[in-house]
Order: sequence, then C-alpha cells, then structure tokens
Amino acid sequence: MQTQINDTISLQGRVAFISGGTSGLNLGIAKGLVRRGAAVLVFGRDAAKAAAAAKEITAETGGRAMGASADVRDYASLTETFARAAGELGKPSIVIAGAAGNFPAPAIGISANGFKTVVDIDLLSTFNVFKASFDLLAKPASLIAISAPQGVLPRPMQAHVCAAKAGVNMLVKCLAMEWSAGGIRVNAISPGPIQGTEGVARLAPTDADRQAWASRLAIRRLGTAEELANVAAFLCTEQASYMTGAIVDCDGGSQFGDASADCLTPPVARKKG
Ligand code: COA
Repeated sequence: MQTQINDTISLQGRVAFISGGTSGLNLGIAKGLVRRGAAVLVFGRDAAKAAAAAKEITAETGGRAMGASADVRDYASLTETFARAAGELGKPSIVIAGAAGNFPAPAIGISANGFKTVVDIDLLSTFNVFKASFDLLAKPASLIAISAPQGVLPRPMQAHVCAAKAGVNMLVKCLAMEWSAGGIRVNAISPGPIQGTEGVARLAPTDADRQAWASRLAIRRLGTAEELANVAAFLCTEQASYMTGAIVDCDGGSQFGDASADCLTPPVARKKG
C-alpha cells in the first residue's frame, strides 16, 4: 500500500530520474516524489548502493523505484542507463541532477585533479544528466539542479565547490533560456545544511560543530530532506509553470551568513542622553 503525503501535490503517472538519489538529501527527495505518486530511477556509481536505495524507497513508500549504476562523469553510461530506465518506467518528465562531491580544503591544498574532480562531479555532471535525458523527456518537463549557497557566497576551504556551484547556477539559467519554450523548465534548489547528509558530516563532523552551525542560521536548526522534497515536488507541478531559471533557496537563511544572537547584539552599548 503506497503511503501518501498529506498535501495537494500529485505526481501520479510521472517518472523522475535522480542522480545522487542513492543517499542523503537526494534519496530524501526521491522518497518525497514517490510518496506523491512518481516512479523514480535513482542512480550512482555503486550498483549495490543503488539497488539498496531503490529497495528502501519501495519499502518505505510502497511506490516504484529502480536503482542503477551510472557515473555522472561518463556520458555514455548515462545514455545507456536512461534508455533502459525509460523502457522500464516510462519517459521522464522530472530530472534532478543531485550528484555532488565535496571535501573541505584550503585552495592551496587542492591539486589540479582535486579541483577538476569536484567541478566534474558538481557542474559537468549537471550538464551531462540534463543533456543525456533531453531526447527522452515527456513534456512539460521539469529539470532541477541541486546547487548550494556556495554558488553565491565565497566560503573558506570551498574554492572548488564555490566555483562549481556558481557554474551550476549560470548553467541553469542558460538552459532555461534555451529550453523553456520547448516545454522544459529548468530550475535549481539551493539547500542549506540538511541533517544526516554526507555533506554536513564532512563540513561539520561533530555534534558541537552542527549545533554551532545551527545557532548561526536565521532559522536556528538544520533542515530535513523532506523539506527539500516539498520544494522539489512543487517545482515539478504546473503550479510552478511560470518558474524557470530560478535558483530557489531552501536553506534556513544560510545566505544571510551569521545570524546568531551574538552577531545581532550591538557591539557598543548606546550611552543615555
Ligand atoms: N583534500 C585535498 N585533496 C583531496 C581531498 C582532500 N580532503 N580528497 C580528495 N582529494 C583529491 C585527491 O587527492 C585527488 O587528487 P590527486 O589525484 O591530485 O591526488 C582528487 O581529489 C580526486 O580524488 P579521488 O579520491 O580519486 O576522487 P573520487 O572521484 O574517488 O572522489 C571526491 C571524489 C574527492 C569528491 C570524494 O570526496 C567523493 O567521492 N565524494 C562523494 C561524496 C561527497 O562528497 N558527498 C558530499 C556532497 S556535498
């Protein structure tokens, strides 16, 4: 029996391809779409992890999920996997480019290959996933890239990710410009720190790190994958039919920077009189 989300969004009959959907926030998004009726392909480099993710989605939601191994940096592996998935599930009208790679390191400590690796996983793969699905799309279609606040905010230890995510934001706008008239809307979601994800574990490895991060956010907590899924589901519907080229922040106010109480307290008390 399929569990249903108690909102008005139905994705019944829709097919979604989700890169990086085998773990973390993208797996959470996949579950959110399946709970609303979509069938999903989740894929990543690791075949066993992909199969386990598909099984988990079906077990939790009662919906339809297929897991496959494909490397987002290998265009041929994407076209082969997408053709197989379209044969099995049907043509996709939702494509989410969520695969991402990150490691915190000072710019001087990143090798040329390390920089290229992150740009390839974050930026090139977004292009690859969208382009490889283009000829299969059932229209109207909604393509969603997963960006990050680093796309607009310079961050220490994140030169490679900042450069890649800024590229993702611009790619989304360029594809929206070229493809929207053909019935393909292209948008991005820019998530803040989402609890339980590898990204947060890498950037804030301890509980104390995560609490400190939450205390600096305007909303004073980390986000959940379900909150991202709500935004993704909306972007896939015709309620969002005039949205294209948008970078939608779902980040608890991450882009304000430090919004902690300490930061808001005036540093010098005002003298009376
Ligand atoms: N500091 C500096 N350089 C690093 C590094 C670190 N912490 N981790 C990896 N690198 C460098 C490697 O040294 C290598 O460069 P070199 O050949 O000049 O030595 C380069 O990055 C590629 O590393 P490799 O491990 O071969 O790449 P990979 O494709 O197997 O893994 C990563 C990609 C590096 C992004 C890896 O962290 C990963 O797989 N991440 C996926 C999950 C993830 O990041 N999730 C969070 C998303 S927000």
